[in-house]
Amino acid sequence: MKERLWIAEMLHSQKRHISFHTPGHKRAGLDITELSYSDCLLSPRGVLKAAQEDIARILGAERSFILTDGSTSGVFSMLWCLKAAGKRSVAAPVFSHPSVWHACEAFGLKVVTVAEETRFGIPLQPTLAAAEKALAAADALLLTSPDYYGNIPALASLSALCRAEGKPLLVDGAHGGHLHFSRERYAGSYADLWVDGVHKSLPALTQGAVVSARREWADALGEAVVRFRTSSPSYPIMASVEYAVKFPRNQAIEEAAEAFKSQYGCVKNDDWTKVLVPFGDRCAQAQAYLEAHGVYPEFNDGNYLLFYLSPRTSAGELKKLGGLLRRLPRGRVAEDAPAGAIPMYREVT
Ligand SMILES: Cc1ncc(COP(=O)(O)O)c(C=O)c1O
Repeated sequence: MKERLWIAEMLHSQKRHISFHTPGHKRAGLDITELSYSDCLLSPRGVLKAAQEDIARILGAERSFILTDGSTSGVFSMLWCLKAAGKRSVAAPVFSHPSVWHACEAFGLKVVTVAEETRFGIPLQPTLAAAEKALAAADALLLTSPDYYGNIPALASLSALCRAEGKPLLVDGAHGGHLHFSRERYAGSYADLWVDGVHKSLPALTQGAVVSARREWADALGEAVVRFRTSSPSYPIMASVEYAVKFPRNQAIEEAAEAFKSQYGCVKNDDWTKVLVPFGDRCAQAQAYLEAHGVYPEFNDGNYLLFYLSPRTSAGELKKLGGLLRRLPRGRVAEDAPAGAIPMYREVT
């Protein structure tokens, strides 16, 4: 790793001391609080400032903010910016994450739904025509990129549409933290405000995420995060976010994943980290067999098992998965996903 790890270096160079401060476990170590030497996330001047500046540079943002409360707090922060700018509505795909609906409900933002079709139980990204229709009745567009099934919307044409309409583009990249290496697929190359769910596809601790802004939204986002982040941020999570954003690209595993998908009849998608195997009505048996052999998928939606990779996945692990998949019969995939099967999403009509 060429980049400095500001937060981790500070944590490892701490002197032992007597803790008359939180946290109550009193085991001063990596899990410390904001002290005179460890900086303060609310108004960073030291290692947190340096880490956030490096992250913004890597992600191509004017400003980036470390989140220890998951992408959820990033989605709330982005949508709060719209509200604070006087916007009243946002166009968002039907299969947006619950945090989108919850934030809009909390801020009184009207959601104009962008139609999304499903094919063999998989939500497809909205078409340009569907987005155009919804955006005509809304003040902004929010996309999910990539989605849980590894599909990426037509970011270039959708962002051109937003620019032509003079409306901001927000991207929920909860599943796309690893995409900053491939700029043409990365939310930050197109969006005004975007979230990177670092903990899902990069080696960060659970809940580690980043929310970023382009120039004209940077100040508003700074005000927003103050409202939706915890006032007791976890240093292990913050250090892991910095580590993960600076984690080097692993092209060998990216290529191995794409080869694996072709070899094992996986669903074609746009994201190497999402390996989607169509087991159809044999999903449950396949999952049980794999788990009995120590292999756990991300989800089973009744049609597919999703295996979620990251730059930390090893070739040996993929090989083991392949060996097991060879022994497992595939079932019939239903044309329509069973009601409520699509994970984490709530369909709004
Ligand atoms: C598309 C999408 N957005 C946002 C989130 C929220 O992310 P987090 O769990 O990090 O708060 C999720 C979680 O699964 C998600 O799938």
